[in-house]
Amino acid sequence: MCGIVAYIGPKEAYPILVKGLKRLEYRGYDSAGVALLNGSLNIYKKEGKVLELENYAEDKNKTGNIGIGHTRWATHGVPCDRNAHPHLSRSGNLAIIHNGIIENYGAIKEELTQRGYTFESDTDTEVLLNLIEDVQNEEKLSIEEAVRVALNEVIGAYAIVVLDKRNPDILVAARKGSPLVIGIGKDEFYVASDASPIIEYTKNVVYLNDEEFAVMNRNGKLDIKTLGNIQKSPYIQKLEMDLEKIEKGGYEHFMLKEIYEQPQVILDCMRGRMNAEKGWIKLGGISEFASRINNAKRIIITSCGTSWHSGLIGEYLIEELARVSVEVEYASEFRYRNPIVNEGDVVLAISQSGETADTLAAIELAKERQALIYGICNVIGSSIARASHAGSYTHAGPEIGVASTKAFSAQVTILTLLALQLAQSKGTISQSRLRQILYELEAVPAKVKEALKTNDKIKEIAIKYKDAHNFLYLGRGLNFPIALEGALKLKEISYIHAEGYPAAEMKHGPIALIDENMPVVFIATNASAHEKIVSNIMEVKARKGKVIAIVNEGDKVIKALADEVVEIPETDELLSPLVSIVPLQLLSYHIALLRGCNVDQPRNLAKSVTVE
Ligand code: G6P
Repeated sequence: MCGIVAYIGPKEAYPILVKGLKRLEYRGYDSAGVALLNGSLNIYKKEGKVLELENYAEDKNKTGNIGIGHTRWATHGVPCDRNAHPHLSRSGNLAIIHNGIIENYGAIKEELTQRGYTFESDTDTEVLLNLIEDVQNEEKLSIEEAVRVALNEVIGAYAIVVLDKRNPDILVAARKGSPLVIGIGKDEFYVASDASPIIEYTKNVVYLNDEEFAVMNRNGKLDIKTLGNIQKSPYIQKLEMDLEKIEKGGYEHFMLKEIYEQPQVILDCMRGRMNAEKGWIKLGGISEFASRINNAKRIIITSCGTSWHSGLIGEYLIEELARVSVEVEYASEFRYRNPIVNEGDVVLAISQSGETADTLAAIELAKERQALIYGICNVIGSSIARASHAGSYTHAGPEIGVASTKAFSAQVTILTLLALQLAQSKGTISQSRLRQILYELEAVPAKVKEALKTNDKIKEIAIKYKDAHNFLYLGRGLNFPIALEGALKLKEISYIHAEGYPAAEMKHGPIALIDENMPVVFIATNASAHEKIVSNIMEVKARKGKVIAIVNEGDKVIKALADEVVEIPETDELLSPLVSIVPLQLLSYHIALLRGCNVDQPRNLAKSVTVE
């Protein structure tokens, strides 16, 4: 949560900061602010989106070729101008931007208060900055040393950038638990929470590691040390990100663009990793640890949000195909409940951003207990990718819409390949069945493209049901996680209460909610459960519920029963989630749009959840 961006070099900083903040807005949009140094230190900050900041700063002095910017997802203190970053130190000499949480801020604040400090905001960040200033004054230290010493007193997570009015030629940045990347240009540096604000200026980047801090000098010198004061040599990497991939490309919203990218994303995800004709699958990230993964007695999948839903699909697939026992855990629960993890266990950590704090903590716990960590991440070089022993990238490209869509499909694709690869090496699948599934998988991108053609039909359905107060999503087998994901999409972006349930569980509770005002979405594409689903549909109809059914093309039985039917191409049942999720994503998109909601930036949410 929170996006940070900073610049030092010969250019004007403000346009770079504002453009960068817009790219990082997916990380939070409770407030936005910048600090610019041009002899004087000017701070402009405003509650709300970056646009509010731009309007506010329109007639202000925005010159300066060193500056820091922030877009906030509130943790300590309500969203308001006063709590917006950057924060200023008591003397007015230092300014800071921060992403993370300082857990012991209360104790530090008390100590500083006793020594006469007062605070303008309710944030932990302002406390940290004044600690830095206090250390600097008391111990007569340079700003970089003061940052280092102060951070050694801090418990929590942070990515920070500090600006010193008296030192206009340096920027100091540090990280622990929150991401930070430094872009290196000619005699200039860019700093950001991810590479998207940097990509158009330079492809040379350094990812700062935990407990490292960097001093960037206007003369082009970059100095990186650990908080223990050990010098590190910067490891410069080339960015592979594409600028056009982080722009809307003619679509009204990022979410819609990302939904439509799914055929290509699934294709990219499979590319070079399988061959149906020859009957092979090769997830490169496994090779080094192949025998440990193949011989795992148990696989634990841990993740959050949409990634947890793809984990549930992974469980069904791995158990069905490879006959290995799988448990799926919310990372936030796993990390705090003393779970049983044995040395031979393999932990699959799934994360689009690769930065989710709970998932990272779950990994650390599993590592302590000697498990092998297999990471499935979208963001290259992200913390989870780096914390894993082995892994596969989903290669879905940057996902900007806060509600995850294409990353989900990519995760499910990887999990399918993983389940098949495990099954092949364990001998739990025949070569002919394996090739049959692989051929079907090759056909999935085209089927997803077909499923996207339901868009107009879905729009009509959205118009009819947009004012409902509740929605129920029901599915069986692999379509149960799809029901959960469909409900989550609707909740996230349209603010309609929605619940996903296994269809057969309806009779144990949710059925009491059904009346003529309750739309019930059935995901009914699995042939093996067709009759059962038909019975569930009858039960809903008998109570006057409105049935919206997602079915395979040509399903006359359900067509005759349902109020609305969306037909999608049939595929192998094991692969059906990749196709059946599409109409549900579109349904949530259109309902949210019709209700006037901000589709890409839903209230209270953030894309990258770097706090617990
Ligand atoms: C947030 C996002 C979700 C995402 C979840 C897990 O809640 O809004 O879209 O599924 O975090 O994120 P991760 O990056 O770990 O997949």
